[in-house]
Amino acid sequence: MYNSPPLTGYYFSWCEMPSSIKVAPSLLAANFANLGQQIATIESAGADWHHVDVMDAHFVPNLAFSPDMQGHLNGLTDKFIDTHLMMEEPSRYVDAFIQAGSKNITIHVECNEDVESSLKNIKDKGLMAGISLKPGTPVESLDPYLEMVDLILVMTVEPGFGGQSFIHPMLEKLQYLRSRLDSLGLDSYLEVDGGINDETGRLCAEAGANVLVSGSYLYNAENPKQAIQSLRD
Ligand code: DX5
Ligand code: ZN
Repeated sequence: MYNSPPLTGYYFSWCEMPSSIKVAPSLLAANFANLGQQIATIESAGADWHHVDVMDAHFVPNLAFSPDMQGHLNGLTDKFIDTHLMMEEPSRYVDAFIQAGSKNITIHVECNEDVESSLKNIKDKGLMAGISLKPGTPVESLDPYLEMVDLILVMTVEPGFGGQSFIHPMLEKLQYLRSRLDSLGLDSYLEVDGGINDETGRLCAEAGANVLVSGSYLYNAENPKQAIQSLRD
């Protein structure tokens, strides 16, 4: 079901563990009844970024996070806000999410827009620009954009919902992308999102990821500090 990259053409080298891992809890899993306390807890537990999953109920079968909802974060944090637009037409919302504090905006290569101009639009507004792909999309579809983005997000579940199981063949996409970035001399972030816990997070880091998005594992943890540390170990 998942088109793993071809085994020929590049060597599965045992990737060096990236120098430092960033942990980005996904707000999709937060309890919005007391968002202030949730943010304070996850930040004192060591979160580096906040990952905001935005869904339009067309590109993915769920609806999540308006710019106004993200805007509530502004008064609660000064951490880096990493916005993931799972949308057919992401460009329509870039300005609104910039207003709402986004520092990186990631769009999907499968979106219903000209990807290059959409990424350029984000960059021209002074933000980091990211590109993401669904599990069923071949990794080579990102090749044309690797030199223009600051971040690549490999979905390790079918986007739309938190709490799903990690799709292991996605590790080959990470290895392919890490070797492409290294051979191009690019220091872009390589991020994963979906089913990330201590075990899958380690596999992703060994395959070359250096930003781990995690929702249910972190927000449901008895001890969030220990859970975040387990993603860094
Ligand atoms: C899927 C979402 C989830 C979320 C993380 O569209 O993007 O991957 O961020 O959820 P968990 O960590 O619970 O799988
Ligand atoms: Zn996400």
